Amino acid sequence: MRIVDLIEKKRDGKELTKEEISFIIKGYTNGDIPDYQMSALTMAIFFKGMTKEERANLTMEMVHSGDTIDLSKIEGIKVDKHSTGGVGDTTTLVLGPLVAAVGVPVAKMSGRGLGHTGGTIDKLEAVPGFHVEIENEEFIKLVNQNKIAVIGQSGNLTPADKKLYALRDVTATVDSIPLIASSIMSKKIAAGADAIVLDVKTGAGAFMKDLDDARELAQAMVEIGNAVGRKTMAVISDMSQPLGYAIGNALEIKEAIDTLKGEGPEDLHELCLTLGSYMVFLAEKASSLEEARSMLEEVIQNGKALETLKVFLEAQGGDGSVVDDPSKMPQAKYKVELPAKEDGYVSEIVADSVGVAAMWLGAGRATKESEIDLAVGLMLNKKIGEAVKKGDSLVTIYSNQEDVEQVKAKLYESIKVSQQAVEAPPLVHDTVKE
Ligand code: URA
Ligand code: CA
Repeated sequence: MRIVDLIEKKRDGKELTKEEISFIIKGYTNGDIPDYQMSALTMAIFFKGMTKEERANLTMEMVHSGDTIDLSKIEGIKVDKHSTGGVGDTTTLVLGPLVAAVGVPVAKMSGRGLGHTGGTIDKLEAVPGFHVEIENEEFIKLVNQNKIAVIGQSGNLTPADKKLYALRDVTATVDSIPLIASSIMSKKIAAGADAIVLDVKTGAGAFMKDLDDARELAQAMVEIGNAVGRKTMAVISDMSQPLGYAIGNALEIKEAIDTLKGEGPEDLHELCLTLGSYMVFLAEKASSLEEARSMLEEVIQNGKALETLKVFLEAQGGDGSVVDDPSKMPQAKYKVELPAKEDGYVSEIVADSVGVAAMWLGAGRATKESEIDLAVGLMLNKKIGEAVKKGDSLVTIYSNQEDVEQVKAKLYESIKVSQQAVEAPPLVHDTVKE
């Protein structure tokens, strides 16, 4: 087989076989195929696309390019959730304990974040003492015992995807649905998921700004999952404004605690119940989505969801009493309000630019080397559609530096107030089940 022939084949819009895809991914991972030929191939894929079979084969070839995590010692069906990323997305912190409380095993491998706020691990480290440096055996024991544990990323997972993603990033071939779908799915499958729930975000703050693109990506990922024996479902949710109120690490932990108590922001609560129902259903702990939903509502009401969070934090060295007293987490020195300049209705909260403001405060990392300040961030006091009076606080800024003028200017630029009444955007735009 020669790579030049395969580039030509894809350039002419023909379908690559399983063996050809295997040859490409193995050759690229071990360095036999140079970047310039792989670039030509990814550009051909960008223009000509890939069939369902090609996408499934590409995904599994990337899964097998490195280590895979064996979760077979954990009882039950392991359902993983993946979000395509948003601003102030606290769902993972809520969903873990929430579904664990009804018996769904949550064996989460997580990373640190780059961008507006930290990743799940950074956020959890706002809880004094909490750590993810645990051995594999301990991790498995904890999941069997408490139904939930989080471990740091280790091993050499999907090296083919790492190399390919870096190449796509500098060759204008990231925005290809088959390449994005196989990239995301390969990582979830390598991490040991039996079933997958996807939260595909759409809107100004999302990777997929356009609803039709988000729908197409969701469909592509669901088809890949189902083709390779991992039941997969997707929810397309709104990210035209940040989810919930909190953006920042300790602030989001507090928001997760509130939500697990049933006292969280309505949108976050609703999205967690929607995604959680899919997880419980795919884990076969309920026979319908309705039943799954009422099980989740029950553990919020009877305190079991919150108790599961506490047990999970304590099992990994954390101070579980933060659940009752969140002020034990790092606190910012200054609280500054952002007053509305006029009466009207909030019409826009550009999520990614609000995220940048949070990063400037220190809530996220601008580069891999940056240090995160766990205490700082933003609390939105108004969401799209709400009426405001001049002087009402739109946002509370939690800062460790006194001067927040730049952050305030960025927020005024991101939050628009209109004279006409505005409708809140729908939270869930669509779902893809098969
Ligand atoms: N996120 C991924 O993990 N892969 C892509 O290709 C794009 C976004
Ligand atoms: Ca939030």
